[in-house]
Amino acid sequence: MIEINEVTKKFQDKKVFVTALKHVSFSVKKGQIVGLLGENGAGKTTLLRTIATLLTPTEGSVSVGGYDTVKNPDEIKRKIGVLFGGETGLYDRLTARENLEYFAALYGLSKHETKVRIDDLAKMFGMKDYLNRKVGGFSKGMRQKVAIARTLIHNPEIILFDEPTTGLDITSSNVFRQLVHQLKREGKTIIFSSHIMEEVSMLCDTVAMIHKGELVHHGNLEQLYKSEGSRDLNYIFMSKLVRGNDYYAS
Ligand SMILES: Nc1ncnc2c1ncn2[C@@H]1O[C@H](COP(=O)(O)OP(=O)(O)O)[C@@H](O)[C@H]1O
Ligand SMILES: [Mg+2]
Repeated sequence: MIEINEVTKKFQDKKVFVTALKHVSFSVKKGQIVGLLGENGAGKTTLLRTIATLLTPTEGSVSVGGYDTVKNPDEIKRKIGVLFGGETGLYDRLTARENLEYFAALYGLSKHETKVRIDDLAKMFGMKDYLNRKVGGFSKGMRQKVAIARTLIHNPEIILFDEPTTGLDITSSNVFRQLVHQLKREGKTIIFSSHIMEEVSMLCDTVAMIHKGELVHHGNLEQLYKSEGSRDLNYIFMSKLVRGNDYYAS
């Protein structure tokens, strides 16, 4: 479903080159929920943006549903929903419903499809009461729900969430967690970045750990617990960082 093949990404910051990703390779199967773990600056956002066709790899390639992110970005954009932390992409002067209608139109949904989809999402997120209010006056949690609904408006097969619960209160975080469970039941493929170990261990089948641009571990979470003789993901994560890249050695 998603194949990340030897991806290196370098940014030029004035005269200095920053290598955000170094030869990262792993694949994600349909229906998998993958947690992307890493410290600030590890390369999580860069990797998600590369999968989302928003960045071109300096070396290597990424394919999504059989399409190459550089050669066929439009095919991929239809299949994926993306939500990047911090930027909700919502228009403050529009109501929640108008925002969702706007994004539905971009994806070519009909009026009827749009209405049904917005009603479903509003129900799922408990947004009915404020659907017709302007987003400008919304709390962070309310905004985040609308932003997540926006991400899902075209019913994408693959969903990428960049730190979806950072800065949210417990109630909003729980809404996100329930949503991931529901999307999993629907057979969606999800990659989300997080530094909240509890969240990753609760929701994910698989973890990918990146440290300074390198993939230090990728694999099934239960197998990882077994091989490490511990279920303390925080401890495992820290010890992987200390040991460095054991992924290709194993
Ligand atoms: N547009 C950019 N220009 C220059 N450097 C960047 C750019 N985007 C990211 N970087 C650098 O790449 C590295 C990885 O960043 P990022 O992917 O945002 O990490 P994370 O999301 O894990 O915190 C960091 O050193 C960051 O400063
Ligand atoms: Mg980031």
